[in-house]
Amino acid sequence: MEDSSNITAIAAAMPSGQKNHTLHHKHHGDDHFHSKSQIHQQHSSFLSFNSTIIIIISVVSVVVVLALFLLIVMLRRLKSVRKNGSCKESGSTSNSSSRFIAHNAIDFNSSPDVKAKCLYGGSISRKPPPTPSRYKGVQVFTYKALELATDNFSEVNVIGNGGFGVVYKGILADGTVAAIKRLQRDGKQGERAFRMEVDLLSRLNSPYLVELLGYCADQHHRLLIFEYMPNGTLQQHLHNPSSQYRPLDWGTRLRVALDCARALEFLHEHAVPTVIHRDFKCTNILLDQNLRAKVSDFGLAKMGSDKINGQISTRVLGTTGYLAPEYASTGKLTTKSDVYSYGVVLLQLLTGRVPVDIKRPPGEHVLVSWALPRLTNRDKVDVMVDPAIKGQYSKKDLIQVAAIAAMCVQPEADYRPLMVDVVQSLIPLVKNLNSSNSTGSSRFLHQLSSPKY
Ligand SMILES: Nc1ncnc2c1ncn2[C@@H]1O[C@H](COP(=O)(O)OP(=O)(O)OP(=O)(O)O)[C@@H](O)[C@H]1O
Ligand SMILES: [Mg+2]
Repeated sequence: MEDSSNITAIAAAMPSGQKNHTLHHKHHGDDHFHSKSQIHQQHSSFLSFNSTIIIIISVVSVVVVLALFLLIVMLRRLKSVRKNGSCKESGSTSNSSSRFIAHNAIDFNSSPDVKAKCLYGGSISRKPPPTPSRYKGVQVFTYKALELATDNFSEVNVIGNGGFGVVYKGILADGTVAAIKRLQRDGKQGERAFRMEVDLLSRLNSPYLVELLGYCADQHHRLLIFEYMPNGTLQQHLHNPSSQYRPLDWGTRLRVALDCARALEFLHEHAVPTVIHRDFKCTNILLDQNLRAKVSDFGLAKMGSDKINGQISTRVLGTTGYLAPEYASTGKLTTKSDVYSYGVVLLQLLTGRVPVDIKRPPGEHVLVSWALPRLTNRDKVDVMVDPAIKGQYSKKDLIQVAAIAAMCVQPEADYRPLMVDVVQSLIPLVKNLNSSNSTGSSRFLHQLSSPKY
């Protein structure tokens, strides 16, 4: 009875073919009946075969799932690499000069952390290169490459010293002459200025802005590499008595005024978001070989995306004599603050005077206060013009330029014009120069017909 029940139990656990075969043996006598141990042996070998199959199937399924997962991850990474590009700082060289292609543009929508990562060797967003052929993109330099370019930052290569640090003239490995600014300021302020220049200038491309060729953020070193402007600053031309430069003539001053107006127009109207320069002044206007002007120094710039009700509340930074009164007194910054600074520069071009000069007689210390009542007075406007350009202009042109300057330095920000209006007012004056003087730069004539933005 025990045997019979055991067999039934075993049979129940077996496939039907095998089951019938076993029962068949039971019904045909004890001679053919297998011993209990034989049945157990058969059963356990069958079970182990079965479980091996199950294990193999499980392993294969896990491997297939893992492979699929890996494939999906790889495809997603490939997609994001294609989309974002990468910041090659200390990895692969782009050419033998240990110069690296960094990027054409830094994504301003990225978080500050992401941007910080970019500057210090992480990944950054890459946008397609801008169309103008001259534009090669901002490059990342090693400190070693800049040591080579400046002959170990030799004293003889020093061309200036400003708020950012010492500026050196250098020759890059590909032969390009560059102005190399080495950050000297410690702490947050210097780091902010460095980042602002890199982030902004990587994105902005205008013939009226000094081009940023590259930067170096090698360990603790912070350097900016700019296109070299062989004719120095407007400040040197207008106010440096020991300067090697001849006084700028009326025509050149007008062209400089238009170039600068176009630079600010670009920042205010064409940059997205709007950029407020915040430190527009004669030392930040550089002149090229044709005495055409470009604006530099974006370390203090502010972006319009920081706006609240059309204005930015900020700490008052900038340079005395150029600050708009409402910005100086309340810290409220708008594009009209730049328009005021532009008006001061226009007055410098017109009068040859510096914005603040305590050596002058009482009442003449502050250029704007002295000039404003004279600018709109037909009889007095002649008297205030720089003696170096006397006789080079028509009275009509002088009155027009004086009127533009007067509007720009209005104490009330709302009464100041937009830079686009200033540009439009200056264009006919410069056009007249070009038609009366065929030596005008061909670049300028081209710009008039098709402004490059
Ligand atoms: N791209 C350049 N090409 C030629 N010379 C330059 C260039 N950039 C700067 N310089 C020279 O270096 C000097 C210092 O420039 P920097 O911008 O550091 O200071 P700054 O404009 O004089 O003062 P601030 O720090 O207030 O802007 C300039 O006055 C100029 O003579
Ligand atoms: Mg400067």
